[in-house]
Amino acid sequence: MSPVLLDVNGLTTRFATRAGSLHAVEDVSFTVAEGEIIGLVGESGSGKSVTGFSILGLIDPPGRIVAGSVKLNGRELVGLSHAALRSMRGREIAMVFQDPSATLNPVLTIETQMRLAIAAHENLGDAAARARCIEVLGAVGIPDAARRIEAYPHQFSGGMRQRVAIAIALLNRPKLIICDEPTTALDVSIQAQILTEMKSLAARLLVMYAGRLIEAGPIAEVLRQPRHPYTRGLLGSLPGIARPGQDLVQIPGAMPSLIDLPQGCAFQPRCGFADALCATMPALNGEGARSFRCHHPLAAESAP
Ligand SMILES: Nc1ncnc2c1ncn2[C@@H]1O[C@H](COP(=O)(O)OP(=O)(O)O)[C@@H](O)[C@H]1O
Ligand SMILES: [Mg+2]
Repeated sequence: MSPVLLDVNGLTTRFATRAGSLHAVEDVSFTVAEGEIIGLVGESGSGKSVTGFSILGLIDPPGRIVAGSVKLNGRELVGLSHAALRSMRGREIAMVFQDPSATLNPVLTIETQMRLAIAAHENLGDAAARARCIEVLGAVGIPDAARRIEAYPHQFSGGMRQRVAIAIALLNRPKLIICDEPTTALDVSIQAQILTEMKSLAARLLVMYAGRLIEAGPIAEVLRQPRHPYTRGLLGSLPGIARPGQDLVQIPGAMPSLIDLPQGCAFQPRCGFADALCATMPALNGEGARSFRCHHPLAAESAP
């Protein structure tokens, strides 16, 4: 097992809103080993982005990390100054946002932006910096990178722009890259292509519901045999994963408000297995490489 690179422990992030305290991320713990790729899944509003932003130190008021720890190579990031976090971002942790325009400046050439990203952390000579940029653009599949590097973002298609944003994230060889739905802004055929590439990479899947981690495990095992009823519902609603000939199923109801969560398991109002026990919060119980937060997990041998 590779050494632990990222250790997130009890991470809890809340937003003060007029209607009350919004529990966006609640007691989330996981680790990422060096070289490991994990995927965070869950429906919209379940806390995936806030988890990523919390790790990067990008939570601003009215949001606040109210508890927990984020350690990168053993170093605590929660509570670091803005300056310390800024110098770490890009160099040690990089993020690829949903929309490449969050990363790309429309009035600068790709080369200028990439050179600025290198210069923020490292003093490379002109030739070496340019060579690094071209190499990384080539690595993310930009054809004719030595010429295209002189273009502006608007001269690229949406898919190519996102590849450039990914290239910028890779530029300073960060140890950790957080990708927040990097394909959502792209058209469906390109989404499928990138997701296929990622699916063959991701080793571990973490499932979030209403701000909490509710299931985790090796990706193939979770897909084949989800243990949490929510995960099964989520997988059944994905066209790429449902079995051929099987109808897509919608989970009835909606995720509860994060300002006014039900007692105990947040999924219980939508769950066919819920009983009185579910009014108490289930622990995240482990079984080998798998873990799930459910009082009535699906049987290990039943097919989804
Ligand atoms: N700046 C903010 N102010 C108030 N609430 C926020 C803010 N950012 C996110 N949230 C809330 O935090 C919850 C989790 O959001 P998010 O992490 O973006 O979900 P996901 O990425 O899983 O779709 C949502 O209820 C969202 O409305
Ligand atoms: Mg999100």
